[in-house]
Amino acid sequence: MLTGFGNHFSSEAVPGALPVGRNSPQRPAFGLYAEQLSGTAFTAPRGENRRSWLYRLRPTAGHPPFVPHDGSPLLRTGPFDAARLSPNRLRWDPLPAAAEATDFVDGLVTYAGNGDPLAGSGMAAHGYAANADMVDKVFANADGELLIVPQAGRLAIRTEMGLLDVAPGQIAIIPRGLRFSVALPDRLASGYVCENYGTLFRLPELGPIGSNGLANGRDFETPEAAFEDRDSPVRVVHKFAGRLWQHELPHSPFDVVAWHGNLVPVRYDLARFNTIGSISFDHPDPSIFTVLTSPSDTPGTANCDFVIFPPRWMVAEDTFRPPWFHRNIMSEFMGLIRGAYDAKAGGFVPGGASLHNMMTAHGPDAASHAGATAATLAPHKIDGTMAFMFESRLPLVPTEWGVSTPTLQGDYDAAWAGFGTARLPG
Ligand SMILES: [Fe+2]
Repeated sequence: MLTGFGNHFSSEAVPGALPVGRNSPQRPAFGLYAEQLSGTAFTAPRGENRRSWLYRLRPTAGHPPFVPHDGSPLLRTGPFDAARLSPNRLRWDPLPAAAEATDFVDGLVTYAGNGDPLAGSGMAAHGYAANADMVDKVFANADGELLIVPQAGRLAIRTEMGLLDVAPGQIAIIPRGLRFSVALPDRLASGYVCENYGTLFRLPELGPIGSNGLANGRDFETPEAAFEDRDSPVRVVHKFAGRLWQHELPHSPFDVVAWHGNLVPVRYDLARFNTIGSISFDHPDPSIFTVLTSPSDTPGTANCDFVIFPPRWMVAEDTFRPPWFHRNIMSEFMGLIRGAYDAKAGGFVPGGASLHNMMTAHGPDAASHAGATAATLAPHKIDGTMAFMFESRLPLVPTEWGVSTPTLQGDYDAAWAGFGTARLPG
C-alpha cells in the first residue's frame, strides 16, 4: 500500500461518518469537523502527494497557546555541531534500562544526525529505553516523520488515525505532525527511531528486479479508525524546530471518528521482506536490502535509506560472503534487533549501535574474515538475525551524549586488529 501514493485508504469507526464523494461537505455527518492533514505541499506531483482528511469530534485548532516543555533530556534535533565529527568509527553497547519512570518520548536518546528540519532535509538516529506508558500525554513531531524500530518489548501506539501494535521484528512509521501516544504491554521497551526531516519514506524502485520483491506495498498495514470521546485533561507535547512545547487539552485528542487519504501511520513486518541476493558469485551492494528510501534531490542518492539484513540463504560460489571491506561515500548507522551480524564476531550485540561515516574504512573483523575465507562454501542459511542500517548521503554528527556516554566502546578499533599482511610470490 505504501508504494504508488495514489493509493488511498479509508476507515470509519461509526457507519456514515465518512463523507462520500466530497472531502469537506457543508455539514459533515453527526456535526463532525473536517480537517486536512497534509504531508506534502498541495502542489506536489500526484504520485508524490500525500494527505489525509480527518473527521473529528472537535477541530485540532481549538487549543490554548503552547508553552515550553521540559522533557526528553537526551533528544536532539539538527542542525548538529559538526565540530564533534571525527573520522573515527563509533560503536555503542545497548542503552541502559531507565532508572526511573520513563515513557517512550522521555526515553528518546539521540545518537547522531545530519541536516536540519528547517531546511527540509537530513535525519536523526535515536534510541529509546522506556518503562512507563504515556498516560494522558500525547506527542507530535513537526520536524519529521518517525520510523520506529522496536528491539525489545512491544509498543501499543495509539494515533489519531487508530491503533498500531508493533512488536520487535516489525516497524512503524508515524507521519509528521500526527499525534500519538505509546503504551508498553511488556512494561519494558527499547529500540531505535529514525527521524526523517526530508522527503517522505517510500518504497525503492525495483528496476530489473521487476514488479515484485523486496518490501511489497500490500504488506504495509494501516490502522482502523478508533476514537475516544473522553473529557479529561491531556498534555500535548509538540516538537517543532528542535524544541519541545506543550499545552493541555480538556479532552482526548484521539477523537477522529473517520478518515481517508494516503498520509497514514503504518506497520510493516520485516519478515515479509522478500530478500533477493546473488545465486552465482559475489554479493550485490547492500542497497538490494532497502526496505524504504527517503530520496534527496540527487537521483539515487538517499537522504536516508532504511536497509535490513534479514535471515537469508547464502549460496554464491567463490565468494567472500560477509560484507567486504569498504570505504563508502554514504554514511551508515547500524543497529541489531536480534541474533548476530555476519561481519562481526563480537561486540555488536542486540540493542547496540555503530556509526561508520563517510570514507571511514570498515568491514569484517579479523575473526569473521578468517572464518569466511576458510569456509567451505556450501549453501548456508543466515538465520535468527535482523540487523538494519539507516544510511544517509551526509555524515551523521554524533551528539554530545553519543561521544561521552559510558555505552560508547573505547576499543572498537581493535575489531580490525590482527590482520596479517598479504605475501607476494618470491
Ligand atoms: Fe558498511
